[in-house]
Amino acid sequence: MNEHIVFFREFLTEFKSTGSAIPSSPWAAKAMTNSLRRTTRPQNILEVGPGTGPVTVKILEDMIDGDKLTICELNPSFMQALQKKLSKDENFNRHKENITFFQGPVQELPTEEIFDVIICAIPFTNLPVSAVEDIFKKLELCSHRNTHITFFEYIGLRQIGRIASIKERRERLDRVSQFFETLEAKYKKETKRVWLNFTPINVHTLVPSEEAA
Ligand SMILES: C[S@@+](CC[C@H](N)C(=O)[O-])C[C@H]1O[C@@H](n2cnc3c(N)ncnc32)[C@H](O)[C@@H]1O
Repeated sequence: MNEHIVFFREFLTEFKSTGSAIPSSPWAAKAMTNSLRRTTRPQNILEVGPGTGPVTVKILEDMIDGDKLTICELNPSFMQALQKKLSKDENFNRHKENITFFQGPVQELPTEEIFDVIICAIPFTNLPVSAVEDIFKKLELCSHRNTHITFFEYIGLRQIGRIASIKERRERLDRVSQFFETLEAKYKKETKRVWLNFTPINVHTLVPSEEAA
C-alpha cells in the first residue's frame, strides 16, 4: 500500500500518537538528521517514531561503516510498512547487520544501549505532560553527556492551541511548555525552522552546553 495512504489511515485511527496526516518532507528529514553529520566517527543512533520512514531513509543515506541504528516504533502497522519499504532500500541492505528494530513504546525500550544521537519524531504536543516527561526520562537514560537529542514541534501549535482550545487542553499545553522550559535550563537548544513541510516545524536539538557555547 502507498505510504501516504498508510500514514493517513493511521492518522485517522491513531491520531494522538501519529500527530500528522502526511509524512515529513525531505527538508524536514534533512533537518532532523543534522546531528549525524557533525562527525565522521561511527555513531550509535536511535530513531524513535519512524512512521513510514522518511527520516529513516535519510539516516540510512548518511550511515557510515561502523554506525549502529536502533529503530523504535510504537505502531505495528507503521513498523510492518517500514520494514517492507526498507527491505528494498540499498542503504538499508548495506548496513542491515548493524540495524535493529524495537516495536513498542520508547518508554519500554531496553536500556542496555547508550546512543550518541537520538532522533525522536513523537508528537509531544498531543500527549499528557506525564507521558512527555517519561519519554524524555527514557531518552536521558539512553544518553551520555555528549548525546544530541533531536525532536520537532509544529510551528505555532502550542500558541494556537492555547487560544483556540478548551480549558483542559490549554492547561495541558501550558504544562508541556513548562516542561520544555526545564529542558532549556539543562541543555543548550539549537532550533532550525523548516517551512517546507506539512505543516511547518521547528526542529530542536538539545546539545551539551560546552559544545553549543
Ligand atoms: C509525527 S509521526 C512521525 C513519523 C515520521 N518520522 C515522519 O517524520 O513522517 C510520529 C511517529 O511517532 C510514533 N510514536 C508515537 N509515540 C511513540 C512512542 N511512545 N514510542 C515510539 N514511537 C512512537 C508514531 O507511531 C508515529 O510513527
